[in-house]
Order: sequence, then C-alpha cells, then structure tokens
Amino acid sequence: MTADREAQKRLAAERALTYVEAGSVLGVGTGSTVAYFIDALGARRGLIEAAVSSSEQSTARLQRHGIRVRDLNSVGRLSLYVDGADECDTHKRLIKGGGGALTREKIIAAASKTFVCMIDAAKRVDALGKFPLPIEVIPMARGHVAREIARRGGNPVWRDGFVTDNGNIILDVHGWRIDDPVALEADLDQITGVVCVGLFAKRPADIVLIGDSVME
Ligand code: 5RP
Repeated sequence: MTADREAQKRLAAERALTYVEAGSVLGVGTGSTVAYFIDALGARRGLIEAAVSSSEQSTARLQRHGIRVRDLNSVGRLSLYVDGADECDTHKRLIKGGGGALTREKIIAAASKTFVCMIDAAKRVDALGKFPLPIEVIPMARGHVAREIARRGGNPVWRDGFVTDNGNIILDVHGWRIDDPVALEADLDQITGVVCVGLFAKRPADIVLIGDSVME
C-alpha cells in the first residue's frame, strides 16, 4: 500500500466524521480505513453516545478510545453507518469482506438509513470483480459451495486458517468480471451453506468518499 493511498484513506476518514451527528448511535465498519475513522472519532471525545460495531477488531479499538459499544438489537434502526470497501463501481455498489467482517457489516448497512463508504481512488472500478469476492460459508458446506461457485465460472479459494467472528470460513472467488452485481448477489445468496456474499449491490453505499472528495 503506497503512502498516497494511506493518505487518501485518512482524508476520507476525516471527511466521514463530518456526517456524524452529535449524540447519535453510530454504525462502525472494519478495516484499516475504519481504524483511521475510529481514531478520529476518539479524538472528538463524547461526540457520539455509542457505536454498533461490525467486528471484534473494531470493538476493541472503539473501547480503547473509551467509546461505548452497543448491541444492534438494543438500538433499532441507525441513522448512519460508516465503513470502507475493497472495490466500488460507478453505482456505489461494493465488494467488501477483505477483512472478513462482511456479514456483520451487511447487517449493519441494512439496518442503517445512510451508508457512508470511505475508499482511496485505486478502489474505484468500472466493473466489480478484480478484487476476489469474499463469501462467508458454514464450515461443513465449504466443498458444496465451492462446487456451486465453480459451476458458475468462479474460482473459489479457501482463506485457509481464517475463522470469522461468527465461527465460519471464507471463500475468496477469483476470476469473475461482475457485470450484474444485483443478479449475482441474489443468485449466490440462494446457495445452501452461504452465510453472506461480499457484494453490496442490493444495498449499495449512499455516499462514497474518495480521499477528501465526494463521489456523486
Ligand atoms: C472488511 C471490509 C473492509 O471495509 C475492506 O476490506 C477495506 O479494508 P481497508 O480499509 O483495510 O482497505 O470489508 O470486511
């Protein structure tokens, strides 16, 4: 990762802070860009009432900053969710899950009114799929799901040794140029044993921050 890309992530994280309402309960994603965001949030002590976190990793960082973490079930619908992504197309549809937190991320995105996504410019693409698509799978279904993906022309690679916060495994699917992300997400969601597909197409981002600029 170049210094320029890191600088863009940091700028996007600082810009994302301007969307946060004082006293709110905020949805918080996972990853290195989110780490910059959490640190910026931590520097504004007392800005939010609490956070709903998408991973154990983000929970630990939030708590280190003294930010209270609440269960999604105890707070209802959120006004804002802030997260990063691995790829973003021109319709703000995303590939997520490089850090393996896609399931909780998708749940919080679904439960939020506005999803602000922070990326650096290298993650902007015309068609999703250069970044391998992460799919969270129930461990005993790994072989079955891999065969179903291969039948659809993808090349699934087991993220060996990685276990999600939900106790599942990840298949990273290589070699797919994704022309219709909404249709592919719906199709893959139907495979028995799939917990979550790292395509955020049915529920894309609402606002994408690239460095310090906003993608319209
Ligand atoms: C984690 C994610 C992250 O948002 C994605 O991997 C981007 O990470 P980073 O900000 O480190 O580039 O989806 O599951």
